[in-house]
Parts: sequence; C-alpha cells; structure tokens
Amino acid sequence: MSDRLLEEVGIGEYVRMLPKAEVHVHLEGCIPAALAGRVAREHGAASPVPIVEGRPEITSLKGLLDYLDWSCALIDRREHLEEIAYESAKRMHDSGILYADVIFNPSHWPHWRGRVGEMTRGLALGAAAAERDGYTPIGLCLSLKRQQSRAEANEIVDWLLEARPERVVALSIDGNEAAGSHNERFAEAFARAAAGGLRRCAHAGESSGADGVREAIEMLGAERIDHGVRSIEDPSVVAELVERGVPLDICPTSNVVLGVVPSLSAHPVERLRRAGVRVSLNTDDPVLYGIDLAGEYEEVAATFRLGADALSEMARVSIEASFATEELKAAISRRLDDFLAR
Ligand code: ADE
Ligand code: ZN
Repeated sequence: MSDRLLEEVGIGEYVRMLPKAEVHVHLEGCIPAALAGRVAREHGAASPVPIVEGRPEITSLKGLLDYLDWSCALIDRREHLEEIAYESAKRMHDSGILYADVIFNPSHWPHWRGRVGEMTRGLALGAAAAERDGYTPIGLCLSLKRQQSRAEANEIVDWLLEARPERVVALSIDGNEAAGSHNERFAEAFARAAAGGLRRCAHAGESSGADGVREAIEMLGAERIDHGVRSIEDPSVVAELVERGVPLDICPTSNVVLGVVPSLSAHPVERLRRAGVRVSLNTDDPVLYGIDLAGEYEEVAATFRLGADALSEMARVSIEASFATEELKAAISRRLDDFLAR
C-alpha cells in the first residue's frame, strides 16, 4: 500500500509526510544561524572555527564541542533561549516530526551556571509557545557531560528530583568519551534518576567503542543509546541490543561529518537494522550541519535502496522509543497506522 503512495508522491514528500518522532537532537546544535551571528557581533566574538557559507566548519567531535562551548556562551538572555526552543519546534514540524526529545547540556552554557532552573524555564516557555502554534511538542533531556565529577552529577540529579523542572523528562549524558567513558562515576546518578521516575538515555558507541554501549546499558541503565553505531564492532553487543530491545538513536550525517564512519554508504545503520536492532534516524546537531530529519530519511533510503516498509519501521521505532507520554505515543502510532493504510 504504502509503497504505492511512495511512488505517487516521491520520496521527498513521502518522508516529510511520514508520522515520526525525533529522539536525538541537541539544543546546542539548534541555535539559529541568524541569532548566533547577531549575538556574536554584539559580543564582538570570533568563532573558534572558520565559518563557511554561514555555517561553522566542523570535522571532529572535539571541534564540534569547542564550537558549542563558544556559541552557547553567547546566549545570556532568556528570550534567546525561548527563541531557540521555539524555532527548533517549528523546524521539526516541517519534517513531519510529531514529538521530539531534545537534549540540552547546561555545562555548555556558562551564563546559566547555578541558574539551571531559569534556563529550563526559558526553554519550556519557548516550547510551550511553539506547541500552542501547532509545532512539534518537545520533551527535554537534561544532559551530564562525560568530564563531570561524581559529586557534580549527583548534585544535578538531586536538583532535578527536587525541582521537577517543567518538560524535563529524562537524564542524559553526552560529550567526548575519547579520554574514557567513566560510567562507574555516573552509575549512582542514573540509578537515582531511575528511582525518581526520570527516563534515561546515554551517548555511547560514537567516541567509545562497543564496550561503551554495553556499559551504558549495564552500568547506567540507559533505555536508549544515542548513536551506538560502533556496536557493530562486537557481535555480542549487537546480540545484546537485539535481545534487550534497546534502541539506537542513529544520526547518519553527524557520523559522517565527525568522521565516525567514512561515508554514508559505509554506515552500519542498515546492517544493524537487518541484524534486528531497533534503530531510529535523527539529526544530532541539525542547524550546524544544515540538515533536517526528512532529509536524513531520504538520504538513507537512497543510499540503501529502502522502501516504505523499512522507512516506516524506523519511524515506528522512533515513536515507541521516545519519552513522550503513553497517550501521545499511542496517538502518533495511530497516525502512522493511518498513513500506512493510505
Ligand atoms: N553534543 C552535541 N553533539 C554531540 C555528539 N555528536 N556527541 C557527543 N556530544 C554531543
Ligand atoms: Zn548527540
């Protein structure tokens, strides 16, 4: 059925219409280029990496994280946080995203140090305004950084559980694991978050190998793995993902840009999916890479010659793996069923 629709409307339109969620996107990578340029001029600040055609030239995870530290340090007004959240929801709506889990990591935003409550409030206001205007509903995942100490991580989780900030649905961890993943340092924070009813996701298998993925599942109790593509290096980790049904939140373009894989055609997304791993497609830092989610579905479909079945399977995983309420997940799943019956 759905293959006929795909043929009729073409792949570009089909992937935009496909009801789906996005579960791996960083607010830090969603600062509108116009806003970043405006505040950089106000602050007289020069980017740490060259800007080419309005976008930073990023080729490594280190380069990306340095750029995020620089750009997020420019944001010192609550209206700007509201604008970033609002514009993100609006952009996601254009890709047919019906719900998004959005990661933000307060360690990138020095102006809001000690004021994470105010920061979250700004983001929640922007997200609420966007939702009222009919754009993508957002849940927030507050992220720890791999370099933080055990005490800092525990303190953040204590605050989360006490303050229960609006729209925060999950604890996350991101950053660079090249100098070690330190999962044992974060195990207590994740366990406390779980006991307090927060959902959990973790970056692993990007700058860490397959072991990092196994540790994130076993030591952090991660319900979803952000990236996880290097699981492919160890068949026993792939088997564990399949057996436990732990989804991978895969970001194809990001992996190519940051050199995790040499090209899209060499990307393991399709090998993982065929092995029975639950995979969804995501954008990671879309504004920085100049991409959108519909475009990621389209590129992956073209590269691996995927039809409606494979595309809708990944959309289904994105919805089921999301941290939306059960009610919203059921509503989006019904939209997907209806779409597939067309
Ligand atoms: N923060 C933003 N993008 C990231 C990525 N790809 N890996 C780790 N941390 C990140
Ligand atoms: Zn990420």
